[in-house]
Amino acid sequence: MGKRGHVLAIPFPAQGHVTPLLKLSRLIASHGHFKVTFVNTHFIHNKLAASTDPLDDVVLASISDGLPDDSDRTDAFELWESLNSTMSAHLTELIESINASNCDEKISCIIADVTLGWVLEIAPRFGAESVGFNPTSAASFAIILQIPNLIHQGKLDCDGNLKGSENYVRLADEIPAWRKDEFGWSFPLDLKTQKLLLECCLSGEKAARSRSNWLLCNTFYELEPSACDLNPKLLPIGPLLASKTRASCSSLCVEDMSCIRWLDERAIASVIYVSFGSLAVLSGRQLQELALGLELSGQPFLWVVRSNFTIDGSKVEYPEGFLERVCGGRGLGKVVEWAPQERVLSHPSVGCFLSHCGWNSTLEGLAEAVPFLCWPYFADQYHNQSYICDKWKVGLRIEQDGDGIRSRDEVKKKIEILVGDDGMRVNALRLKEIAKKSVGQEGSSFVNFHRFIDHLMVYKG
Ligand code: UDX
Repeated sequence: MGKRGHVLAIPFPAQGHVTPLLKLSRLIASHGHFKVTFVNTHFIHNKLAASTDPLDDVVLASISDGLPDDSDRTDAFELWESLNSTMSAHLTELIESINASNCDEKISCIIADVTLGWVLEIAPRFGAESVGFNPTSAASFAIILQIPNLIHQGKLDCDGNLKGSENYVRLADEIPAWRKDEFGWSFPLDLKTQKLLLECCLSGEKAARSRSNWLLCNTFYELEPSACDLNPKLLPIGPLLASKTRASCSSLCVEDMSCIRWLDERAIASVIYVSFGSLAVLSGRQLQELALGLELSGQPFLWVVRSNFTIDGSKVEYPEGFLERVCGGRGLGKVVEWAPQERVLSHPSVGCFLSHCGWNSTLEGLAEAVPFLCWPYFADQYHNQSYICDKWKVGLRIEQDGDGIRSRDEVKKKIEILVGDDGMRVNALRLKEIAKKSVGQEGSSFVNFHRFIDHLMVYKG
């Protein structure tokens, strides 16, 4: 077999980053002209292998994240430090060994999550094209690129807090403003965590300034044209969605398929799907308010409650009698530890997505025209909420009270309003069509993706 291009893709080791880059990798592989190697840390690699079927289109490989095997990787500071100090060397070793094993399949392109900005410096050493991949919105990336300017202009302090009397930052009229404490790096309750988030963001900023000429982004131009226009290097190629014909391929937890059968027995557009992604946590009191709000609404619900869903890692405690009352037999609700989310959202029984507004969840909900109830936790999720509620008008905020709690009455009230609102459903259907067009033949993301592939074809020599 002759020489063919070999793409190596490497995500940041977290669910919300692995999923979109693996989808992109499979899309590149499906093109047929490239071998694609997808590199995880050993920890993520083992989780993926335990929860999904083997892949036949992409080669999976893994490297150490520098931490001992028995570490549970829940300490984000330790993990970040270790990735920073050890990953480059491990990746370099892997590339050397791949290149030595077959000189017709040397790595010709490295696609790295922008959060791992330093990886992009490795590519030129191997004569490979270096490509950044941004798994969040174009707007969320645009504000990160502005951090040095905002600090220089005296608008932000070095910890990422807004200074002076301004309560928000706006990048363009058409992009919702970022309010104080709602930046991608904000974590007002804990400065140490905020500094870590800021450092992660700055790694992305560095990636954008690197020699990489391409910054692929999981968005589509029509969804956020102004934000896409802010960065000439940015190439919107999304939404990256799981192919309807293949089983899900990127879950790091085992998907509970019983919820699909449960949905089959519910009325069309009646179910509230409740999911907070892979990282968001709730306090015990907040979890109980949410449970009671769902019960009070009288609407069927499917709720993903991860085993690590509480803020202090304690066991999940439901209100007394909740599970027996609400989730037993033919009760209103069903609770699972992890759902096949894209299949759930495409199910006709689902009528509303109560979501933390992670970018993947946002795109997955948009792609299925499911209106949102927004409950952001951190990172880009507040800005995604602004897009959903203020710009695209496909969802409502669930507001906090003076104690920072989203009460059962607020949950019930917003479910009732959303269920009775046809306008939002119409907006959602319109966006679904635009999203579909963008990845369809000759759509904007389709054309961008093929421009990228054509470039790689030349680059492989
Ligand atoms: C993180 C950040 O928090 C998010 O804001 C950022 O945009 C990406 O990285 P996460 O919090 O996990 O991700 O949320 P999200 O981006 O929504 O990704 C979660 C992924 O897990 C989605 O693709 C979703 O389909 C999947 N998922 C979630 C499941 O497959 N099953 C579940 O039960 C819950």
